[in-house]
Amino acid sequence: MTESKETNSLRSVVEARNPFVFTDHNQQEIELILQKYPPGRQVSAILPLLDLAQRQCGGWLPQAAIETVATLLKMPAIRAYEVASFYTMFNLKPVGKHHIQLCRTTPCWLRGSEEIQSICESHLGIKAGEVTPDGKFSLVEVECLGACVNAPMAQINDDYYENLTPESMKTILQNLATGKPAKIDKTSSKQKKSESDNEEEAL
Ligand code: FES
Repeated sequence: MTESKETNSLRSVVEARNPFVFTDHNQQEIELILQKYPPGRQVSAILPLLDLAQRQCGGWLPQAAIETVATLLKMPAIRAYEVASFYTMFNLKPVGKHHIQLCRTTPCWLRGSEEIQSICESHLGIKAGEVTPDGKFSLVEVECLGACVNAPMAQINDDYYENLTPESMKTILQNLATGKPAKIDKTSSKQKKSESDNEEEAL
């Protein structure tokens, strides 16, 4: 294990043991969120509250954060943990600053997600499920993210990147690493042609 990995692992242990308290701003957010649910149904706010906690923790959910959410919603901690561990949108261990969720379901696979994954792994020097030693990137495989029409695709933090090619994926990674805007033209040439065909038909 490299020193950086040891540091990361130590950080995750320390952070996981620290008590978790929502910031003042997030406590106000929680009040607004809870108002959206009928009296007695506040437990249904588990998803937005876990999401809020995850954002506050830098993209992952330490056990203490899950327990705090459970306490707030007056539910057993194990039930909050069940929810947090069910959805891939929640991370139970530290992730990179740029968390890449690569779709590997059939439509994306048929359109080249394996190649996209290879580019990510070779460019970043990590395998799926790992974080780069500098903590900048993490990579995971996920199931369909609902953008099959523009396969292959990946979600990086809150953004979708669609119609990926090995070249565009590499550019995105390079841009993220250097702090440039990572957004690229999301419309494939195939889509552009079909859109221009439609426009011609409409004339
Ligand atoms: S299969 Fe990849 S987004 Fe649906």
